[in-house]
Amino acid sequence: MFPLALKRFLCNFIPVREVRKRARKRVVFAHYIKIRSRKCKMGYASYAGEGFGVSNKETTVGKYCSIARNVWLGPSQHPIDFLSTHPVMYLDMPYGPNLPPECRCKFDGEKPPCHIGNDVWIGINSVIMDGVTVGDGAIVASNSVVTKDVPPYAIVGGVPAKLIRYRFSPEIIEALLELRWWDLPVEKWKNLPFNDVPRCVEELRKIRAAEAASGAGH
Ligand SMILES: CC(C)(COP(=O)(O)OP(=O)(O)OC[C@H]1O[C@@H](n2cnc3c(N)ncnc32)[C@H](O)[C@@H]1OP(=O)(O)O)[C@@H](O)C(=O)NCCC(=O)NCCS
Repeated sequence: MFPLALKRFLCNFIPVREVRKRARKRVVFAHYIKIRSRKCKMGYASYAGEGFGVSNKETTVGKYCSIARNVWLGPSQHPIDFLSTHPVMYLDMPYGPNLPPECRCKFDGEKPPCHIGNDVWIGINSVIMDGVTVGDGAIVASNSVVTKDVPPYAIVGGVPAKLIRYRFSPEIIEALLELRWWDLPVEKWKNLPFNDVPRCVEELRKIRAAEAASGAGH
């Protein structure tokens, strides 16, 4: 484990991915990700572009997620019913007057974390609002603001994001959610015909059946 100060220092010289890999083995970040997203738990093979950020350290991202540039997961909130939305009224402030603690009101701007499933693609410049869950296999179109949970394998887009369509039929989605290819070792799925999803489902069923017969878990 690298202490944070050392990680920051190393980031000036070597790709963050390398720092990350060494810091936490199962996490793979794109080399251009900013260290400030360190709070986020990212699953195997997931990556994010420059400008990616999270506010809540409980935020989770599943495996094989593609997160584009300038995506925020749970941007946190300011109070909307105080005299001002400015943090001077509730925080120790480096900007402007720093009010004594007895003058400040209590405010916890951190809302529930976002949970992003496996195999999710989040398009460029999108914001997933606090507490939103994005299901496995979903797509968030570019420039979206997602304010409600997104069902698995849905494509959503817009401000606020609305359902555009589902990626596959209900039967295929149900099968994919059961088969969870992302939990299998790469060796087992690397030769699947990726561009023929019904056949992938057939093959994954065989793989899972063989596993069950041999008593192997995932
Ligand atoms: C959503 C997306 C995946 C395309 O999905 P699709 O189902 O093939 O979309 P289509 O082009 O057929 O459009 C379907 C509908 O979605 C709408 N739509 C497409 N992109 C949209 C967006 N970003 N925001 C809102 N609506 C969008 C279209 O206007 C169309 O609406 P209509 O049915 O009312 O005419 C694609 O537009 C997108 O946003 N990709 C992300 C790109 C990106 O950020 N890349 C970064 C690299 S990681």
